[in-house]
Amino acid sequence: MIGVFDRAAETYDQVGVTFFGTVARSLVDRTAPRHGERVLDLGCGRGASALLAARAVGPSGCVHATDLAPRMVAGLHSRSGDLPWLSAEVGDAEHPPVGPWDVIQASLVLFFLPDLASAVDRYRVALAPRGRLGLTWFGAADESWAPVYAALVGGLPEEDRPPRNVTTSGPFESPASLERLLGAHGYGDVVTTEVRVEVVFEDVEQWWAWTWSQGQRVLLEAHERHGTLHTLRESVDPLLEERSERDQLRWWTDVRCTIARP
Ligand SMILES: C[S@@+](CC[C@H](N)C(=O)[O-])C[C@H]1O[C@@H](n2cnc3c(N)ncnc32)[C@H](O)[C@@H]1O
Repeated sequence: MIGVFDRAAETYDQVGVTFFGTVARSLVDRTAPRHGERVLDLGCGRGASALLAARAVGPSGCVHATDLAPRMVAGLHSRSGDLPWLSAEVGDAEHPPVGPWDVIQASLVLFFLPDLASAVDRYRVALAPRGRLGLTWFGAADESWAPVYAALVGGLPEEDRPPRNVTTSGPFESPASLERLLGAHGYGDVVTTEVRVEVVFEDVEQWWAWTWSQGQRVLLEAHERHGTLHTLRESVDPLLEERSERDQLRWWTDVRCTIARP
């Protein structure tokens, strides 16, 4: 997945679709970094939430952002020249740099970690006593897109079909399951809120550009490897055109934001 995000970085969050910024805003509103605080932003991507946090803490604070995809980190560097108190480097969200941090935040990242429980133990150690951990993750999504998704995975061998939604089992099955895990690992005051985020696509080409620009790129790259990208377009384009005629070139997902204190 890191390779996929690294190759996506060139267009990630830059195809004219408002999504990651909206999600990041809901996270940073809730982690609420204050002037002078120290923030660690994990899986920073091109900085949707790190940049908001850097503006909130100001020059007397600091934000350190990490991501395993070097081109995401380079993208953030290119956007943060006016914020010298924001640093960014390649790093694994599983292993936070030594704190203490007032805020550790991760927007749409932690469901990628193979061992969330060990990671949240390390975050607890790295957090200041009055610090907070904040993360965003996916809830329900617009099921009307199921035929398009079926076409995207159709024709791919089983090993190239990622789970439909990485957040349907384990700690991310529900707010209660995540809250249980955090409670069992030394966190309190755990609160989850949910917002529905809608994405409206201008046209079919923008939908394709968006799909190449984020995690679902994994499916398009698999078709590329198997030489089936052209066939894929032939099956998906009519579905998109039909949605477009019904003014349904729009998709929504619920995004959950969980805040916890050590
Ligand atoms: C959906 S993007 C979110 C990026 C950013 N937080 C945002 O909101 O735009 C997921 C990011 O997590 C990064 N990522 C995935 N697993 C990671 C890990 N173990 N350590 C660091 N970054 C990771 C990917 O490279 C990618 O940039």
